[in-house]
Amino acid sequence: MYKNQIAELIANTINSADFSAETVLSLMIPPKDITLGDICMPCFKLSKIFRKPPMAIAEELAAKIQKPEYVDSITAVAGYLNFKYNAEFLAKKTLTAILEKGENYGKSDIGKDKTICIDYSSVNIAKPFHIGHLSATAIGAALYRIYKELGYNVVGINHLGDWGTQFGKMIVAYKLWGNEDTFKGGVRSLHALYVRFHKEAENDESLNDQARYWFKQIELGEPEAMDLFNKFKKVTLDEVCVLYDRLGVTFDSYNGESFYNDKMGEVLDILNEKGLLKDSQGAKVVELGDNMPPCLLVKSDGASLYATRDLAAALYRARTYHFSKCLYVVAYQQDLHFKQWFKVAEKMGFDWAKDLEHVAFGMVSLAEGSMSSRSGTVVYLEDVINKAVEKAYDIIVEKNANIENKKDIAEKIGVGSVVFSVLTNNRIKDIVFNYDKVLTFEGETCPYVQYTYVRCNSILEKATIGDKVDFSVLCDDTSKELLRYLSNYPNTLIDATEKNEPYLVTRCVLNICQLFNKFYIDNRIIDAPEEIKNARLMLTKAVKTVIKNGFRLLGIQMPEKM
Ligand code: ARG
Repeated sequence: MYKNQIAELIANTINSADFSAETVLSLMIPPKDITLGDICMPCFKLSKIFRKPPMAIAEELAAKIQKPEYVDSITAVAGYLNFKYNAEFLAKKTLTAILEKGENYGKSDIGKDKTICIDYSSVNIAKPFHIGHLSATAIGAALYRIYKELGYNVVGINHLGDWGTQFGKMIVAYKLWGNEDTFKGGVRSLHALYVRFHKEAENDESLNDQARYWFKQIELGEPEAMDLFNKFKKVTLDEVCVLYDRLGVTFDSYNGESFYNDKMGEVLDILNEKGLLKDSQGAKVVELGDNMPPCLLVKSDGASLYATRDLAAALYRARTYHFSKCLYVVAYQQDLHFKQWFKVAEKMGFDWAKDLEHVAFGMVSLAEGSMSSRSGTVVYLEDVINKAVEKAYDIIVEKNANIENKKDIAEKIGVGSVVFSVLTNNRIKDIVFNYDKVLTFEGETCPYVQYTYVRCNSILEKATIGDKVDFSVLCDDTSKELLRYLSNYPNTLIDATEKNEPYLVTRCVLNICQLFNKFYIDNRIIDAPEEIKNARLMLTKAVKTVIKNGFRLLGIQMPEKM
């Protein structure tokens, strides 16, 4: 807050080519002793240039710099130049801006003219959309919204897993044990066929031969094979889109792996031209040096691989969207895969290779136990969400049986809590999901934030904000800290995109909630004298606004009552 302006003031006063405002900014830190001020600049580096002790320099600067209205005091202490903000001025400025901008507070156009591709959620056809996909979906969608909020042109891509020999197996299984009703049973029925195939193939090797035959038919575009393949796809997407709707998740492209079938030839041609493709026991690989295993791009039977498709997809995205960053929100288990093909892209000489980024995240498992897609014990994300919503419903009934729109409120709390669970900590952390923990109203939880929002709402319903405002009552430590988070919210969004970490937004809002609740306990609002009441109501409204704006970007809705 005002850090840039202060840096500029200092730089102008120093007036030396060696000390730009940017350099000053990089030196500025919060003072060790917060009673000294809100921000300070150590003068030790200046001492070398001006051949004076840092203490003298700090004193000279303190005397010379013209104090702006947002600063209360400028002091020199032990070689540090300290600035103390004028709390009243800042309170007024921050609250006025938030109330004026409302739902646009935090929006900016710093991303104007830049395109960000985000590959996220990336569903596998005919396979369960399980709890493991939660992070890929929630983190990706949050980044999508945050980048958009900052004015970037964002392309959300669902890189469907719609290619591979498993579709040959699916056709065999369907023809043997399935019928039209299978499709009515959705992905669960399709997946049951897949599980059955593996069981039966243990005793009957011919099934695998048939599967290879049918996969070949898909590759050749044979009508019967294509018809079934497309039905598998439709069933999966219809089902997952219902969930996307509930989560408020959208995509601009569903170009999946099969889309690149005719686009890998070019990649292989370039690799050949550059002499990068090496034979290895009949397969083709690119060697990546001592630190990484070679990247396999063509199998000995001529089939392409996951990495081959990713290379073709990246080339297509670079040409189609001219991205300034292309993000892959994918579990850390695929670390090596991304490292390998990013390196291949770099070796191919694509200048966009440096703009590819694997946004990795940790594992999510249910407290009850993990899962495997082969054995069939899968925890569907849909079931987790439904169960969370049901539990939320019970909690609401218990807390307030007469409240209207219980279903709607339960949906917001339940869905929100599931999403929140993967957006609370930095993304690389593994998570064990526990219903009771995520649904409690206390601690760092989604219902806690929603409850705080509702609290703001009910305060604001009871009074209107008048014109006469005494901002000086917002200068106590809690209010000052709260105002600092509120005014820093727009920067938090930028931070979140620089690190691709949506949890920074979650943390900012959580801190705001905690501070506001403390403020609420310590202060009377509605029955305070008029000018004080107005200041406190403005603060309440600003808190409400930032909670709602921040959590909307994370994909979490606020109930108006609960
Ligand atoms: N479908 C893949 C999986 O579930 C994730 C795809 C990620 N995107 C990509 N371009 N590789 O593992």
